[in-house]
Amino acid sequence: MNRFIGRSLCVIDDLSREERLYFFQQVRKLKEAVKANDTETINSFRINDPDFGIYEVFLENSTRTKESFRNAANFHYAKVTEMSADNSSFSKGESYADTFNMLSGYNNRVFIIRSKVEGVCKHLSQECAEYAKRNDLPYTPAFLNAGDGKHEHPTQELLDEYSFLEDNNWNSDDIHIALVGDLYHGRTVHSKADGLTLWKNVKVDLIAPDELAMPESYVTKMKENGFEVREFKSIDEYLTQSDVSKQWYFTRPQLERMGEKILAKAASLRTSITFREDLMDKIPEGTKFYHPLPRHKEHPTIPTFLDNTSLNGWEKQAINGMYCRIILLALVAGKIGDDFEATEKKVVEEEQPWIIEIQPKESNEKGDVSEGVRPISNGIVIDHICKGEDPAEIRRHMILIRRVMGLDGLKGGEWVSQSANGDFKGIIFRPGQFEFTHKQVKRLAAVAPGCTLNIIQNGKVAKKYRTTMPPRIYNFDDLMCTNDACISNDSQNENVQAMFTKTKDGRYMCAYCGKVHTFKEIFKH
Ligand code: CP
Repeated sequence: MNRFIGRSLCVIDDLSREERLYFFQQVRKLKEAVKANDTETINSFRINDPDFGIYEVFLENSTRTKESFRNAANFHYAKVTEMSADNSSFSKGESYADTFNMLSGYNNRVFIIRSKVEGVCKHLSQECAEYAKRNDLPYTPAFLNAGDGKHEHPTQELLDEYSFLEDNNWNSDDIHIALVGDLYHGRTVHSKADGLTLWKNVKVDLIAPDELAMPESYVTKMKENGFEVREFKSIDEYLTQSDVSKQWYFTRPQLERMGEKILAKAASLRTSITFREDLMDKIPEGTKFYHPLPRHKEHPTIPTFLDNTSLNGWEKQAINGMYCRIILLALVAGKIGDDFEATEKKVVEEEQPWIIEIQPKESNEKGDVSEGVRPISNGIVIDHICKGEDPAEIRRHMILIRRVMGLDGLKGGEWVSQSANGDFKGIIFRPGQFEFTHKQVKRLAAVAPGCTLNIIQNGKVAKKYRTTMPPRIYNFDDLMCTNDACISNDSQNENVQAMFTKTKDGRYMCAYCGKVHTFKEIFKH
């Protein structure tokens, strides 16, 4: 069974480390065959099927990704189509799902999509799989993310990793890399937070002024992935210390996205991430520079005097783009990949129960139950809300909890209490008869993790539950990712229900765009 057939690549983490190492072996084999003019080996990679549909849909500008994919698709003697979005029914308000469902019915097996809407490939891979089932299609289309907003650029990540390996004697044990430039907007550097796990030991130096700094969630992810991370505000600051990387990865400053205030500082921001001739003797021998390109003709951060030097790694990197994309298409089509054998098992963390029933105390002694529990004969008390936070914040969040749990408009009340150790906590009580379904308790656990739910019957705590964050939260209409570029944000009008997974540091990551939220942010306010 070929595990690559019909696989989507929405984020780089969709391919395991082992799968990527296999992928790079194939790229290397193809490049060597091309160099040796070994036609038989070259032909062994071709899909060679004029009915196999490869569809390019670029809703944002591109030269390298679009053209290298087009050339890669032509290599395969496949049916290559480019959608002209401007003349399509997108302008009549058609959704992504309806558009791509229909196109997948026309024998199109692979879609290559660039869009400013983040998470679009993940959404479409789910939707079109359902469509294929409903319509009895003999295949499930694959979606290859060619760059989605500020989120990820996984096919660029593949060619970047390949280029680093190629220039570093195929060493997949250690890497020390400097990421320089617009780390805030650059989707290629965001993909590195998971992509660099290809190497066992990773040291990353982030070089960007505050305005262009790597978002905190990606820095956290890098650290959780075991990378050693250092941060510098400029190339000059970086070069004042001695532990300088030999692999520098530049990204284009996207200042135009940042409003007037930033544009006023454009010159100094660019200077801090632009290499200069006088720095040549401060970098280690054997240093290589990389860049996903394009570079700006007026403000290149890797100036053109570097083109004809040994630092130039970016030209070969761009050429590798086509070879990597040939191999990706060959894998997804099932032309290669039969001989791949996985040895590493994916570590699935054991799920901890997120709602635990605890034994209510029998005693009626004063102080055994929280304030508010005692006065109710029948009802519920939600206790320990936002324990340890300040009273104003607890009150603010209780408004959301009431709405999420449908407790507005009922009798009862809420207040902020202080525990013996001085911590504040919120309490909501509602008298009456309550039946909580599993789904409702899950909502409570998501909106108020750490709280306890007391079910009071006949003046006693009949049942008591302690909650923690559920590992996944979805299937609720009032969840929403706060990133307005995300396919699941209401502003996109794509009717995509939000979905979140718990992060290692106890937050919620959007399953589409990767934006990290606190538990207070995932329900619509
Ligand atoms: N590297 C890259 O994505 O370039 P293009 O924008 O030209 O596709």
